[in-house]
Amino acid sequence: MNKIWSPKDWRQMPALHMPNDYPDPQALTAAEGELATLPPLVFAGEARRLTTALGQVAQGNAFLLQGGDCAESFKEFSADNIRDTFRLILQMAIVLTFAGGRPVVKVGRIAGQFGKPRSSPVETIDGVTLPSYRGDNINGMDFTPESRIPDPQRLLKAYHQSSATLNLLRAFANGGYADLYNIHKWTLGFVSGSPQGERYKALAEKISETLSFMSAIGITSESHPSIRSVDVFTSHEALLLNFEQAMTRVDSTSGDWYDTSAHMLWIGERTRQLDGGHVNFMKGIKNPIGVKCGPTLEPDDLLRLIDALNPEAIPGRLTLIGRFGSDKIAERLPKLMAATHRHGVPVVWSIDPMHGNVVKAANGYKTRPFDRILSEVRAFVDIAGSENVHPGGMHLEMTGQNVTECTGGAFALSEEDLRDRYHTHCDPRLNADQALELSFLVAERLHALKDKAVKAA
Ligand code: PEP
Ligand code: CO
Repeated sequence: MNKIWSPKDWRQMPALHMPNDYPDPQALTAAEGELATLPPLVFAGEARRLTTALGQVAQGNAFLLQGGDCAESFKEFSADNIRDTFRLILQMAIVLTFAGGRPVVKVGRIAGQFGKPRSSPVETIDGVTLPSYRGDNINGMDFTPESRIPDPQRLLKAYHQSSATLNLLRAFANGGYADLYNIHKWTLGFVSGSPQGERYKALAEKISETLSFMSAIGITSESHPSIRSVDVFTSHEALLLNFEQAMTRVDSTSGDWYDTSAHMLWIGERTRQLDGGHVNFMKGIKNPIGVKCGPTLEPDDLLRLIDALNPEAIPGRLTLIGRFGSDKIAERLPKLMAATHRHGVPVVWSIDPMHGNVVKAANGYKTRPFDRILSEVRAFVDIAGSENVHPGGMHLEMTGQNVTECTGGAFALSEEDLRDRYHTHCDPRLNADQALELSFLVAERLHALKDKAVKAA
């Protein structure tokens, strides 16, 4: 960089998908000023620890599991919801670790995942057109003119909700709930008759047996803190740069800038322009970052983004999150993977099988067929195998709640079932059963790859 970077530089650049209709710009500036005085949500040292862990993923020694709501909301905010998402992440990580034989880096789409890019700035219902809903940190979901006006106070409310969410996550992670010796407690909450629940319970039983043996030889949670607690990191799309700028601080240890709103931030599919404000902002912060890579991304543009975002080639700094759609991945991903492999700068390759697989059901609901999601993940692992790239992770929209938002899965949810429990504030999420089913499938594939590698060695 020729000129010294500053967190406000994005303001001189085009930045798409940001609200520009705050009625009172002074109130916005005041809210940003207040945010800038509030304590950081995460520490720079924690973000560095995540970069190191993701470096292990980039080198093929670990797997990244990133997941949570499409959009958090003020209405669905509750301790139970946070616990259920946390528990689902733990359950999925157990499945993936056990079969894949590698550590799983756990990153929630949580504690700050509010703002949404929208395909259209307006929404029309029954002939009435209003500004689109942009996420609870910007405006409200109710279809009324008042609710759709951007309100800067929402930024502060989102900050405080994120802070309370993180506080609870930290307590779950370190306060005993996540102790592996409690694995049976994590099996509570499966809906009755859940096939994945039964499968998971059988796995938990096996792990318990191993733990009794370990305890008999003196390996306990007291003697080994890594059994007692887990690292769960937070992430969200760095969309609303006003908020991200206000949370960006100089770390006193390293003198570097860190965005203290989350451990990891990513650039969305619609805001990854090389000369845009979002890419400029992400260049200057030292957190581990991600970039969504959709079906229009060409290999040369990807390499330019990699050089801009990870000029020092730090392993774990950059995660590429593919989101092509099950019908496009075979055509798009191989050349991107071949390019990054040739280029040599270390990256994590992860797959988001959600955003390329949205369909509109006959009854109007936006949904994602589970078989398309499975198919894109399978294709990802297979293509990575052919391109000699580590299939490093997956990025999911999911919830621990028993929602009916994606069709298919072992309960064979139909389009008609979508009406029952469709609660998302934006895109349809996998429910716990579907997310576990996907984890078992990925675990089997990773296991098969490992066997192949061992045989080839
Ligand atoms: C998202 O992750 O919610 C999202 C909007 O994804 P994308 O940028 O890949 O469309
Ligand atoms: Co989404």
